[in-house]
Amino acid sequence: MSRDLVDDPTQHLQYMRHLQQSQPSRPPIERFGQGYQDYMQSPLQPLTDNLESITYEVFEKDPVKYEWYERAVALALKDLRALLGDERQIIVAVAGAGRGPLVTRVLQASRKTGINVKCYAVEKNPNAHLLLQRRNATDPLWANQVTVVASDMRSWPGPTLPNDGSALTKTDLLVSELLGSFADNELSPECLDGVQHVLHPGHGISIPQSYSAHLTPIASPRLHSDLLSRASTDISLSVSEKWEIPYVVMLHQFDYISTAPPTTSPEVPQTPDVQQAWSFSHPVAPEILAHARQRGAGGTVADTGTPYSGPTTNDHNARSCTLRFACADRGVCHGLAGYFETVLYSSPNRPKHNNNNSEQQTIELSTNPVTMAEKSKDMISWFPIFFPLKTPLHIPDGGEMEVSMWRQTDDRKVWYEWVVEVYMRVPVGEGGSGKRMRVGISELHSSRRNGCMM
Ligand SMILES: C[S@@+](CC[C@H](N)C(=O)[O-])C[C@H]1O[C@@H](n2cnc3c(N)ncnc32)[C@H](O)[C@@H]1O
Repeated sequence: MSRDLVDDPTQHLQYMRHLQQSQPSRPPIERFGQGYQDYMQSPLQPLTDNLESITYEVFEKDPVKYEWYERAVALALKDLRALLGDERQIIVAVAGAGRGPLVTRVLQASRKTGINVKCYAVEKNPNAHLLLQRRNATDPLWANQVTVVASDMRSWPGPTLPNDGSALTKTDLLVSELLGSFADNELSPECLDGVQHVLHPGHGISIPQSYSAHLTPIASPRLHSDLLSRASTDISLSVSEKWEIPYVVMLHQFDYISTAPPTTSPEVPQTPDVQQAWSFSHPVAPEILAHARQRGAGGTVADTGTPYSGPTTNDHNARSCTLRFACADRGVCHGLAGYFETVLYSSPNRPKHNNNNSEQQTIELSTNPVTMAEKSKDMISWFPIFFPLKTPLHIPDGGEMEVSMWRQTDDRKVWYEWVVEVYMRVPVGEGGSGKRMRVGISELHSSRRNGCMM
């Protein structure tokens, strides 16, 4: 290289610019999450708190979620029309409408499919309600045709008949998006139970139809030391309670502890072993809700006259799981990473395997790292959730972790509890598979004191 070139920084600068400009663009979640890596936030509680307009604005930037909802609504409208015929409008309610993006998608699906709908937008946040009314008056697609209802969905009596404002009717399609990073942690099950009475008991469809919570153990010294060094800046939390609540966080510097298949070979691609904790489906079987109502009203055990004791009205929304994770390599577990999957709509009328996306039979969203690329690549609305462990757990080579988790509830709130155990096999005699011995266990963590109010 000539001395001139070495001394002239312009060429070096040009080359650096070239490298910078020819970088592949970063995936949307990385662009969107810039500055949020490993930053732990308390999960939103849209049921108890009223979200600000800026929070809705951030949700609405998602390039995938709303598009997938529109596809799901279009599929459901086609199935409802096939069932109910062309004569009457399909009645659709968006429950928890926010500033109205899902209402717009319902109206777009209606226009694209040519299926006439009557749309209701139900929202309990008074600020969002004002925005919905304005949108109804100004957006040409809405054209003042949407009925905006300012109410908690659980106390909404339901739509009224067009020609008789006092007679109630049922909705054919109930669209909601009340999901948190761990599926049910923003109390979607409780809200949808409370509004199910407005859905037609025969053919009524809920979008989403189901959702499930998923988890896997992770190592993240960074999150652990961040929590260790946190004095309780949040005045509502005592110092020890910081270990007893889950956090929403864009995981960045971390490792999966259990991979499937468990192997130490560098040639086999490693995917995390993310397992399903539990799931919810909607609409719920009417007997379950009737039973819960009966218990809540202090009813009696059917045919016996014995008063109910113990179980509360929300017991059917309690869940629990025990999951085993094989760990090929030794490591340290600092907590559990949580994700969700949801089936927005699965049409019973279309062929199972259809490569044409617009006619896809099952429309799903996922934040599970194993299935997200296939189900809803580039979706940005949700970061994972992190359930911390107060004391990190050491896992030996070839160890096994057993995670037990509960979704607990009483009549007022919902909370999570979690405990992790570590096992290893110790040889006994010759040729046997060994004895499974517990070599570590975490504290039982519980977010009861900071549970989500119903
Ligand atoms: C996650 S936001 C989704 C908003 C909007 N649908 C979207 O997708 O952008 C959930 C919305 O549901 C509302 N919400 C939650 N629980 C509700 C309830 N019980 N009754 C009525 N609205 C509720 C919240 O105020 C919030 O606007």
